[in-house]
Amino acid sequence: MFDELRNAQIQPMIDPFGRSIDYLRVSVTDRCDFRCVYCMAEDMTFLPKRDLLSLEELDRLCSAFIARGVRKLRLTGGEPLVRRDIMTLFRSLSRHRDSGRLDELTLTTNGSQLARYAGELKACGVERVNVSLDTLDAARFKAITRWGDLGKVLEGLDAAQAAGLQVKINAVALKGMTDLEAVPLIRWAHGRGFDLTFIEVMPMGEVTGHRVDQYLPLSQLRAQLLDHFTLEDLAFSSGGPARYARVRETGGRLGFITPLTHNFCESCNRVRVTCTGTLYMCLGQEDAADLRAPLRASEGNELLFATIDRAIARKPKGHDFVIDRRTRQPAVGRHMSVTGG
Ligand SMILES: C[S@@+](CC[C@H](N)C(=O)[O-])C[C@H]1O[C@@H](n2cnc3c(N)ncnc32)[C@H](O)[C@@H]1O
Ligand code: SF4
Repeated sequence: MFDELRNAQIQPMIDPFGRSIDYLRVSVTDRCDFRCVYCMAEDMTFLPKRDLLSLEELDRLCSAFIARGVRKLRLTGGEPLVRRDIMTLFRSLSRHRDSGRLDELTLTTNGSQLARYAGELKACGVERVNVSLDTLDAARFKAITRWGDLGKVLEGLDAAQAAGLQVKINAVALKGMTDLEAVPLIRWAHGRGFDLTFIEVMPMGEVTGHRVDQYLPLSQLRAQLLDHFTLEDLAFSSGGPARYARVRETGGRLGFITPLTHNFCESCNRVRVTCTGTLYMCLGQEDAADLRAPLRASEGNELLFATIDRAIARKPKGHDFVIDRRTRQPAVGRHMSVTGG
């Protein structure tokens, strides 16, 4: 495959706080076949399809970031695997894995379509997938995802394993549920050879009810887990914000993503692009840069690079997430499905 970056000079992206940006997350669609209660309202309005970048434009955008030093690329959404012809994008991006420019091409998925795509993903150079699964109880799964089917996700996980993909399970910690389910979830995930990471719910976008009623601080969950397990802190990093521990009793790895109880922004190496080509320098701030206009303005990447450079130069120090009874407004108005998890 033609490697258009072979002779390109990499000018790394360094933000004002000296953080090197080498990780890009791209939301390829804001649509989804689930309606998770912490992520979306049930009656979401989605973007008109004409506003979306085409798959060719997404490829060009990702490749431009790779030319600027991105070494880890995660496709997300919405649900990335519901975007029509999404495998075309994975297939074309796999050339950057073949050339060694990209260390990792991966995705975050709800797993509903994995049974269909796992083999093809592996063939495109995807080694690991993050699958979001908060509960193993079919009724609770329905209550959380509103539209999801646990059986399909479990089939997807079987297919992923059969295809040789490494799986990490992401579970959002939810008050009144995860405190009851965490122990069996850990035993199940580690028994299947999956890493498991808990995530604190973040105040992004309006959802039904108050965030306080969903929010379970991971400091609290971790303390409860100590009644059942011995947690040994690990220096291991998967390149994202999780901090890991080894669960001595299962031998598996357990991650904690704690945007609320322990801010991890000092080591942030990421930026995010939406399916309309909007670049967000921080998941938890409103400031953004439009990359679609410079992308479409010319065939060369000069304008695009200049816009990216100006945006990286104002990457904020971190987010200001707060969840308490007094704070009614979300930290940012957009839902997680817009920027991508
Ligand atoms: C927005 S989803 C997109 C990818 C895919 N649909 C999925 O669910 O894995 C990415 C991740 O964000 C998480 N998420 C969504 N809304 C969240 C919120 N408000 N706070 C914390 N995590 C959230 C989901 O659980 C999921 O693990
Ligand atoms: S968390 Fe993922 S699966 Fe659930 S509604 Fe959001 S985008 Fe869809």
